[in-house]
Amino acid sequence: MENLKKEGDLKTFDPNSYMHNYVVSEEAANNLKPEIEILHRLFNSHKLSGKRLLDVGTGPTVHTLITACNHVDEIYLSEFLPQNLQYLENWRNGEENQCTSLIDYAMELEGRTKTVSQRMSDLRCKVKGILPVDVTSSKPIGDAFGDEKLDIIVSSYCIETAVFTVEGYGKCIENISTLLNKDGFLILFACLNGDTYQVGECKYKAVCLTKDDILSCLRKAGFVVIATEELAETDYDSKYLTFDSYYYILARKLM
Ligand SMILES: C[S@@+](CC[C@H](N)C(=O)[O-])C[C@H]1O[C@@H](n2cnc3c(N)ncnc32)[C@H](O)[C@@H]1O
Repeated sequence: MENLKKEGDLKTFDPNSYMHNYVVSEEAANNLKPEIEILHRLFNSHKLSGKRLLDVGTGPTVHTLITACNHVDEIYLSEFLPQNLQYLENWRNGEENQCTSLIDYAMELEGRTKTVSQRMSDLRCKVKGILPVDVTSSKPIGDAFGDEKLDIIVSSYCIETAVFTVEGYGKCIENISTLLNKDGFLILFACLNGDTYQVGECKYKAVCLTKDDILSCLRKAGFVVIATEELAETDYDSKYLTFDSYYYILARKLM
């Protein structure tokens, strides 16, 4: 396959292409609206709240934190690639303006109490740290929080891009679970039944997962699954996508 990168080779991952392909173009933003609805439902129906939330494998985009912003005191972003960490720093410094239409949509769901720019500013203020992360490590963020743990972790389409076996996926779930408080919540978004994704002109490998693979990894890592939703990939026939659907899970750490 042309431009298919070797395992683990993400050096060519371009944050600007990612944002265009998956977040900010009109088509991409429309595709993400169902995910904003899911986050809105999860946070509100399950009354999720807490002091600290960590987004694991944020990439260059903060759209997964728009709803969370109303429910926690502190948000930490984390990323594996230096170019994405820099992109997030630029956003925090006000140089990159992103996902305004998705903020607008989240606020429509909430009932508008603020302007989009106020909400963007709230989100920037809530982000207390932008950290390097490696989900394959037994200490994914090193000693960033010392002995303190988190109340909520969000991870969207990250872990399946970091490993190439279901066993490796399960190990990463265990690794990030060490960061959570007992009774803490994990919101996990995952791609199902495919193994390739594309950013700009480059294709990258991911592990092919089924729903049962993910649920079994979560149970083995000590989580109880509270809610799941699934969305079909509407562009499944595209030559750029091999996933047939997306899976959204809310799980709680039991021990
Ligand atoms: C498909 S992107 C998802 C980005 C974003 N969370 C989203 O939902 O659009 C996958 C992300 O996982 C990150 N990643 C890859 N390997 C990783 C690792 N070992 N540890 C943590 N993140 C990793 C990539 O750098 C990339 O930003």
